[in-house]
Amino acid sequence: MTESATDTIQSGGSAATAAGSTAAVRPAPAEAIALRNVTMSFDLGRSKRMTALEDFNLSVAEGEFVALLGPSGCGKSTVLRLVTGLEQATSGEVLVEDKAPADLAKSHRLGVAFQEHALLPWSSVRENIALPFRLARRAVDWQRVDELIRLVGLVGFEKARPRQLSGGMKQRVAIARALVLSPDVLLLDEPFGALDAVTRRRMNGELARIWEEQHITTLLVTHDVEEAVLLADRVVVLTGRPGRVRHVQTVDMPRPRHADITRSAEFRAVVDHLTDLLDVDRKAE
Ligand SMILES: Nc1ncnc2c1ncn2[C@@H]1O[C@H](COP(=O)(O)OP(=O)(O)O)[C@@H](O)[C@H]1O
Ligand SMILES: [Mg+2]
Repeated sequence: MTESATDTIQSGGSAATAAGSTAAVRPAPAEAIALRNVTMSFDLGRSKRMTALEDFNLSVAEGEFVALLGPSGCGKSTVLRLVTGLEQATSGEVLVEDKAPADLAKSHRLGVAFQEHALLPWSSVRENIALPFRLARRAVDWQRVDELIRLVGLVGFEKARPRQLSGGMKQRVAIARALVLSPDVLLLDEPFGALDAVTRRRMNGELARIWEEQHITTLLVTHDVEEAVLLADRVVVLTGRPGRVRHVQTVDMPRPRHADITRSAEFRAVVDHLTDLLDVDRKAE
């Protein structure tokens, strides 16, 4: 009798404490992407190995936009390929929504747009954007395809073939295609790499607008410091090969961030700081 009364008091007490602590501390957002102590080395034959990433750690929260910056060859694309499940880490752990990346890719919840955008040259814009439905063996939701065409500003070009489009338009098709199945995670590898500065800025504005509408967890690889600071919640700077995390910069400038912000003193200071960090490696090369 006494014992059970004590039990009741104790469990009542601990429940109250638990409730109190959740009210006081906001729950941390779920982790969408995690790379823990990842090393990736490639076999170059004749018992030579090249280490692309070493003891690499990165955590991206659900709904967060993270940009990766680093000298060329430091392993940025390797990070994205590990997250897609296209490559397996030599050691360490890669998780996307607490699962092995290949599992998430199988359920078509990853949207991917890489620089070599690989549009089907003989297919129309509309068919190219519908491709993920076909690869997933699902009926094409044409309403969704047309919604994406509007979102990336390609209305009027539905029937065009890739060769009839400018570089910027092709990249918009690639981004629409990456988004069409409403992925949980979006991976972009230098998606605007081949564009002139003006088109690139316009594409940055469009990506920012799309992201603000949908808040998809996004990992963007870029070599453009301004692009990274304009778009990201956090910018991760990698060291030269083997790639490790050199610096993590939180960008807490308010959103939506319009192009004007790139002229502000605060923005310039962050860009200069990150450029200096990248120059450490450029000078060492
Ligand atoms: N499949 C592979 N086999 C051998 N070496 C590779 C392979 N993939 C990438 N590498 C090497 O790993 C390093 C990092 O490559 P990558 O991730 O493409 O760099 P980044 O995208 O930062 O320019 C480079 O030196 C590259 O040559
Ligand atoms: Mg690359």
